[in-house]
Amino acid sequence: MNFDVWTKGLASLSVDCLVVSVFDEGDLGEEAQALDAASSGRLKALVARGDFPGRASETLLLTDVEGIKATRVLLVGLGTRRALTRKIWRRATAVAVTSLTRTRIRTVAFALDRPAAKDLDDYYFGKVVAEVVGAALYRVNDLKTAKKPKPPALEKIFVGPIKASNIAAAKRGLEHGQGVALAMKTQRDLANLPGNVCTPSYLANHARSIGKKYPAVRVQVLDEQAIRRQKMGCFLAVTQGSDEPPRFIVLDYRGGKSTAEPIVLVGKGITFDTGGISLKDPPTMDEMKFDMSGSAAVLAALTLVAELRLPIRVVGVIAACENMPDGRAVKPGDIVTSMSGQTVEILNTDAEGRLVLCDALHYARRFEPSVIIDIATLTGACVIALGSHHTGVMSNDDELAQEIVSAGRRADDRAWQLPVTDEYGDQLKSNFADLANIGGREGGALTAAAFLSKFTQGMKWAHLDVAGTAYQGGANKGSTGRPTPLLAEFLIRRAGG
Ligand code: BES
Ligand code: MN
Ligand code: ZN
Repeated sequence: MNFDVWTKGLASLSVDCLVVSVFDEGDLGEEAQALDAASSGRLKALVARGDFPGRASETLLLTDVEGIKATRVLLVGLGTRRALTRKIWRRATAVAVTSLTRTRIRTVAFALDRPAAKDLDDYYFGKVVAEVVGAALYRVNDLKTAKKPKPPALEKIFVGPIKASNIAAAKRGLEHGQGVALAMKTQRDLANLPGNVCTPSYLANHARSIGKKYPAVRVQVLDEQAIRRQKMGCFLAVTQGSDEPPRFIVLDYRGGKSTAEPIVLVGKGITFDTGGISLKDPPTMDEMKFDMSGSAAVLAALTLVAELRLPIRVVGVIAACENMPDGRAVKPGDIVTSMSGQTVEILNTDAEGRLVLCDALHYARRFEPSVIIDIATLTGACVIALGSHHTGVMSNDDELAQEIVSAGRRADDRAWQLPVTDEYGDQLKSNFADLANIGGREGGALTAAAFLSKFTQGMKWAHLDVAGTAYQGGANKGSTGRPTPLLAEFLIRRAGG
């Protein structure tokens, strides 16, 4: 997809379609009024007849409107004028793109009314349009054998109107938005793949392909022997019941001349979570193929920074394996020694995410991170607490947590801070080891975070629990690509915007 800005004179743009807005009760938006004037009242006549009331996210395609150069006009409803929010505008934009994909339209100029600049300046306007277009054009890489429908014809999108002084900002937004769209596609494609395809080795190969495409990314993959040499006893305990070999993956991106301490991103890469000997119930177990979403988000983030050549250093660390029941599988009550030296009593083999992460977080100390952020589909309890609307943020540094929350707000990929105070750590006491891997039913998302905090002391650390946000179940089952928009916004800001 090709993006550009338009500045003025919508009626004389030679594109296949112009997209303009109508508010409630046929109240024409700004650019719709301009087209109405150019077409001697065609749009006013249409809304006066009551043919398009302008309800939010409704569309109507008009052809051969006189007095304008484009061959078609797409009317898009935005609802009540005074109640126009970024959310309504974003949704209407997505609906418009979707309806365009059902036509043979190739070039289009977007000219919808926009929410106030404080909610959406020209940079974010460009960024959001490029992101929304990417999401609207996303197709699951399914394995259905029926013939695939023709891909949409859409190839060039102009956004505007943009004042001459803001063209650079809008174009930068478009570039960043395309980066985010590519990153989200990376995450969704990986996470949507079945567990028998997207194995730890598959993730490692994908990381290597990122290293091939972007010379600024160095990739290193540890196999089981190398993982053993690092003494990652907790990670090894999880993988020991699986025939699929584990992989520990490190991606090191150096942007610009950056010599600063890196931002380290750590991903949970359980390519299938059966629960192990503490076996899960069957009904939605298939969804545990998404249990590598955190690692897919890390690969997505590395793709983003490399694609946009952001002037920062970012290291991605992924612990990838399966969690399976087996004659050799780890058993409830087994005690293992983590890479940090702390011993862990594994009371529930289904609390495996924190086990692979604690070794990955400890391993990452060698990079002397400026901040370290782990991303994991860690607990069902987080889904109970926040549903699928907010990602849970837990941190040992309130400022970092709030930086993440604000990035999520700006990116419309929201997150909410939850506490990780000492009391939650106290719930992890074990009679036989330094700590147990579970802390009872109460505050399950927080005791999981408290477990991780025992391995991140002295580092500025945040944990994103994306169990409720990274994928959807039910009829629209699939990866959402979250929290990639949040992470992208965080990284872009850290890189200086
Ligand atoms: N991968 C799951 C968490 C999960 C649950 C993600 C539901 C998405 C939806 C994780 O490994 C797990 O099984 N956690 C347990 C922890 C418990 C045993 C303390 C859970 O949440 O039930
Ligand atoms: Mn589990
Ligand atoms: Zn899991």
